[in-house]
Amino acid sequence: MNHFYITTPLYYINDKPHLGTAYTTVLADVLNRYHRLIGYETFLMTGTDEHGQKCNQSAKQKNVPVQDYCNIMAKSFENTWKLLDISYDLFFRTTAGWHKQAVQKCLQELYDNKQIYESTYEGWYCTSEETFYTSKDLVNGKSPNGKEVTKIKETNYFFKMSAYQELLIEHIHKNPDFIQPSYRKNEILGFLKNPLEDLCISRPKSRLEWGVEIPFDPNYVTYVWVDALLNYATGVGYQQTERKEDFEKWWVKTGALHLIGKDILITHCVYWPCLLMALGIKLPKTILAHGWLLNQSQEKMSKSTGDIMDPVDLLKIYNSDNLRYFLMRGVPVGKDAPVSHDLITRCINEDLSNNLGNLLRRTSTMIHKHFDSQIPEISNNKKMEPLKNLGIQTAKSVKENISTLQPHLALEKIINLLNETNKFLEQQAPWKKIKEDKKETADILRTALEILYLSAALLKPVMPKKMDQLLKSLSCPDKWPLEYFERGDFPKAGEKIQELPPLFPKIKSEMT
Ligand code: MSP
Repeated sequence: MNHFYITTPLYYINDKPHLGTAYTTVLADVLNRYHRLIGYETFLMTGTDEHGQKCNQSAKQKNVPVQDYCNIMAKSFENTWKLLDISYDLFFRTTAGWHKQAVQKCLQELYDNKQIYESTYEGWYCTSEETFYTSKDLVNGKSPNGKEVTKIKETNYFFKMSAYQELLIEHIHKNPDFIQPSYRKNEILGFLKNPLEDLCISRPKSRLEWGVEIPFDPNYVTYVWVDALLNYATGVGYQQTERKEDFEKWWVKTGALHLIGKDILITHCVYWPCLLMALGIKLPKTILAHGWLLNQSQEKMSKSTGDIMDPVDLLKIYNSDNLRYFLMRGVPVGKDAPVSHDLITRCINEDLSNNLGNLLRRTSTMIHKHFDSQIPEISNNKKMEPLKNLGIQTAKSVKENISTLQPHLALEKIINLLNETNKFLEQQAPWKKIKEDKKETADILRTALEILYLSAALLKPVMPKKMDQLLKSLSCPDKWPLEYFERGDFPKAGEKIQELPPLFPKIKSEMT
């Protein structure tokens, strides 16, 4: 069996999830569910990044003990992902005792192998990004992402990251799919044209206590990014003797796909591989960077600008399937995309109510009315062949689009198939044909039902609840549908289709 291991970033918990973090998580879930549908054994890991100054400050502001604050916020992420039907295998929290021990083992190993040394650091620090910057990195006195920085000078521990620069460049060249899309790979190769500096991996406890203690110097905790990045390996058993098999299976043999936003490219494509090389373990298979959801002012939707959409509020208007569909259809993977109520409403109404919903309504109404709800026999009518072939082609393209990690293209193909089927119904007008040719009407409706089955199976990873209802009403399996569809196995002739409540009622614009 093939295996698929996908991760999301661990989200900071200084605030509740917003639509940007929800987008990453839904995309990971959709890619994971598609791989499961195609027949892979899969593992999806998401979670929360709970150490560091940012979290500590938020807990203080709210006057709550920091671990209690983490527990409350981690729950709010878990609850939101549940509402969005995210089917993860592990919700990872960096404050888990077993992870902290594994991080300490890594640090000790690096120290024993002389990959870590002590020195004095003087430079700029951005608390909101938990990142160090040199003067030349700053843009108008702020971080390259426009965040406030402060000057600091302190003795710290450093990881010899510079020693891995050439090896990393070589790895990127030899593995063209390592960083995707290719324009992000080029961005990293551009960054690596300048000499790579060593990485400060500690924080004195006098400044910040909330972190994993450095095992060889109890006056320090480790830099939050080192602790957080290691989750991708510790989550599947790294540095835990009792989980050696898991580590071998998921990290070594399968290889991870890290899904990230383009804002955290350097930490994932530079710091992380260098750390892994120093630890002597495999690098992830792929790092896929997506773009940003943009707010009304066409800026990154973020907690700091305040102009954010809360997924829990949106779910009260659109429901989980509709919102998941919009996020996958409206945001091409890799690119920035605007989000607004108007865009969400239009997408749902056009694709789901007018297209899929309309096909379902027309077909099922006629089957109930003229065929006693029974599914007609399989048809050999030549007129049906072009649609049938388009269905086969669509399923093949969906598989291809998923293997290249582009679910938005898969959705485009499915919507095109539904559009063509609706057009075919309009040309053939079965509602008129029923009066003169019941046999051909049955063939047309049978074909429409087969397309509905195929589309429901192909759309289920995006809309798990509604497509499950649709498949059940047609008594069809939720397995990879191509071979069944080619043979015309489903829906089974003679079975009755069950009445469904309208799956895609139009969303009224007053709501927006
Ligand atoms: N804690 C770090 C990641 C550590 S991973 C080892 C972090 N957390 S974060 O809470 O800031 O979340 C960052 C991720 O949230 C981004 O990389 C991206 O995946 C997602 N997004 C946050 N805002 C977003 C948008 N406006 N649009 C799309 N995704 C966004 O960085």
